[in-house]
Amino acid sequence: MNLPKNKMKHDPSRTMFAPEFNFQTSAQEALAFDRQHIWHPYSSMNSANKEQDVWPVASAKGIYLTLADGTELIDGMSSWWSTVHGYSHPRLVAAICEQAQTMSHVMFGGLTHEPAINLAQKLVQLTPAGLDKVFLSDSGSVAVEVAVKMAIQYQQARGKANKSKLVALKSGYHGDTLGAMSLCDPTTGMHHLFSGILAQQYFVAQPEIRFDQEWQNSDIQPLRSCLEKHHQTIAALILEPIVQGAGGMRFYHPQYLAQARILCDKYDVLLIADEIATGFGRSGKMFACEHADISPDILCVGKALTGGQMTLAATLTTEQVATTISAGEAGCFMHGPTFMANPLACAVANESLALLIDNDWHQQVSRLEKGLLKGLGPANELDSVADVRILGAIGVIEMKSPVDMKKIQPACIEQGIWLRPFGRLVYIMPAYIMTDKELEELTAGILKVLKSGLF
Ligand SMILES: Cc1ncc(COP(=O)(O)O)c(C=O)c1O
Repeated sequence: MNLPKNKMKHDPSRTMFAPEFNFQTSAQEALAFDRQHIWHPYSSMNSANKEQDVWPVASAKGIYLTLADGTELIDGMSSWWSTVHGYSHPRLVAAICEQAQTMSHVMFGGLTHEPAINLAQKLVQLTPAGLDKVFLSDSGSVAVEVAVKMAIQYQQARGKANKSKLVALKSGYHGDTLGAMSLCDPTTGMHHLFSGILAQQYFVAQPEIRFDQEWQNSDIQPLRSCLEKHHQTIAALILEPIVQGAGGMRFYHPQYLAQARILCDKYDVLLIADEIATGFGRSGKMFACEHADISPDILCVGKALTGGQMTLAATLTTEQVATTISAGEAGCFMHGPTFMANPLACAVANESLALLIDNDWHQQVSRLEKGLLKGLGPANELDSVADVRILGAIGVIEMKSPVDMKKIQPACIEQGIWLRPFGRLVYIMPAYIMTDKELEELTAGILKVLKSGLF
């Protein structure tokens, strides 16, 4: 398979496409090709950094991933917060198939369709009060870009063009596109690598008071000071409500969010809630904003929106923001992706939202929260563990030292479980359909791995 590059490109005797790989007959060759040619998330193309760092998965059903060699793994990740109903749920598969027979895709400029209208209607109903205008896009990062552009266009349309920066929280994560990246934690987001092109934003210390601790007003002081000092140049505050995800898996106090809402109003700054990870029940509320009983001015959702079956995101805003933007210089909102409101994605999102209700997501998540407390709680006793925290269907074990990915992933696979730890964080967010027994197996597997002495 290792043909010289020029031969692969120019040999006229070759057909247009390379022969397909079949895992059953040429797993090694397929993996070798993958290693040499395909970028994975945050991966290196330097073979010295690559031992076995990807596993070929052949199928996924319910809470199980089946690897190409037949190994079955209980999935603890829900493919990064998304597959809340598990994989290949018959109702979700049917929704996609049915929609594919009618209309898989159609441009959204000048056209509209029932799946998008139904979805927008559901989102307006489900999300916190006042978020009535829906912009559908392709991924979480794009939903954040859209939110930022809405905030900037809004301020410009009000004659406040000097309000052109955002304020974000340290330890936050909002995506990998340039605008979103400018809002991620400056250190872990490696801002220095992109310093010539990244927008310069304000950052304030992350909230320190935990979800279940006693609130102290000092926690909001960094944000208050920043807004006091710079509000005339700030269009919006962006934050992940209650759960800071990829930036540290930290759960902070609802009062922080309540105070942030008050400060945004006081200083004429929009509040953008990035609920791409937390949306649709994960934190124990349909939206994490509900822990503080607040509505943001702009809300981003994605990931679990389609039950993790297809890529789709949405940015919602208020009548006031939307009408102000529309009365501005451009007379419209300046964004319009090719795959905006893709009908397949909208159809499966509609079915996923219906499933949340039919399955009583709240009861599912409360049950998982109890199981996580019981199953992961004992990790607190391990010398290598710094902290164990649980919120809704999210379980986090923070280690004292970073885990060695090359050791921990094979060790998890040995236990029949799929995890993707990072840094010092070993964390899970199971599908809501996971049974108590399956969760017990998953958490017992994690404890066994952590007790192995390897970490
Ligand atoms: C809070 C948050 N915002 C934005 C994103 C980016 O979403 P996507 O990976 O779909 O671009 C993520 C993804 O992990 C996220 O957790």
